[in-house]
Amino acid sequence: MKRLDLNSKTFLVAGAAGFIPSTLAQFYLEQGAKVIGIDNFITGSKSNIEILSKYENFTFIEACLFSSFPALDQFEQIDYIYSLASPASPVDFKQIPLEIMRVNSEGTLNLLNLAHQRGARFLEASTSEVYGDPEMHPQPETYFGSVNPIGPRSCYDESKRFAEALTMSYHRHYSVDTRIVRIFNTYGPRMRANDGRVIPNFVNQAINGEDITIYGDGTQTRSFCYVTDLVNAMHEVMFCHDHTPVNIGNPDEYLIRDVAEIIKMVLDSKSKIVMKPLPDDDPKKRRPDISKLLSLSPFKPQVSFKDGLRQTADYFLQ
Ligand SMILES: NC(=O)c1ccc[n+]([C@@H]2O[C@H](COP(=O)([O-])OP(=O)(O)OC[C@H]3O[C@@H](n4cnc5c(N)ncnc54)[C@H](O)[C@@H]3O)[C@@H](O)[C@H]2O)c1
Repeated sequence: MKRLDLNSKTFLVAGAAGFIPSTLAQFYLEQGAKVIGIDNFITGSKSNIEILSKYENFTFIEACLFSSFPALDQFEQIDYIYSLASPASPVDFKQIPLEIMRVNSEGTLNLLNLAHQRGARFLEASTSEVYGDPEMHPQPETYFGSVNPIGPRSCYDESKRFAEALTMSYHRHYSVDTRIVRIFNTYGPRMRANDGRVIPNFVNQAINGEDITIYGDGTQTRSFCYVTDLVNAMHEVMFCHDHTPVNIGNPDEYLIRDVAEIIKMVLDSKSKIVMKPLPDDDPKKRRPDISKLLSLSPFKPQVSFKDGLRQTADYFLQ
């Protein structure tokens, strides 16, 4: 991993109270960098900000990126901007679709303008959802995707595609120094227990002895990256020289029914596994092609699936 002298650098992390963004912010705080966190707590947690606030180099601003974007005049220098503020779970797609579309469009626009004004480098956290329900497997960055523009997931998929287009336009038109990462399923401590994603669902059901609910017949696949592995890779991409999208994920692919069995085994749970109907537009296969990431960095996932599941379960048990 690139270890740089970050003492004199200032990072702005949009969405700092969230699962991935708070882990990323802590990664930079531990290296002595200054971090400014912005969040409106729509899906983030105050306890994550309490953890970050123990570092003297952390400043938090409670604000909405599209309706009350802060002036930030008090900060002389902003070197790197991470655009990570977006609700990302299927539960959110149903409950707050317009907030998702506005933060990925207007919120991203405000962050890009800030990067342009301050000469900061900008990284957009996009998603594997830009590939939709892919016809190509695994998915390389050159695949343009198969997205339903009016389906229940479109508020997220299409607004992230727009955020990518906006980022590339600022790069081409204003020469803003931009990066784009497409994040595949990530899991770990600080996820919300009830956010509807497969790992927190299964882990909490297993811990509580409830039925583990598989949607569909369990033959759909996913690949899971532990959050600290993702953060290391995001840092690598921020400090590489490629402006086009880079997939980040762990390419180990699991059938969802096997994930349920592994979680039962790792947590020694007596839960039963039950099947429920598959929601509309649920992707059948997901696995990143990470050749490009490997050509740019020495990325190698450090945390095994079983260890990551144990650490996630410990977090929920606390
Ligand atoms: N978790 C994953 O597996 C995954 C996969 C692909 C992409 N991503 C992307 O990574 C980023 C972080 O995802 P996460 O899973 O940590 O989600 P999260 O919901 O835990 O974090 C997002 C944070 O952004 C904040 N936020 C949302 N709208 C805001 C607004 N208008 N103004 C200010 N703050 C706002 C939320 O309150 C939250 O704290 C998102 O951009 C998401 O799309 C995540």
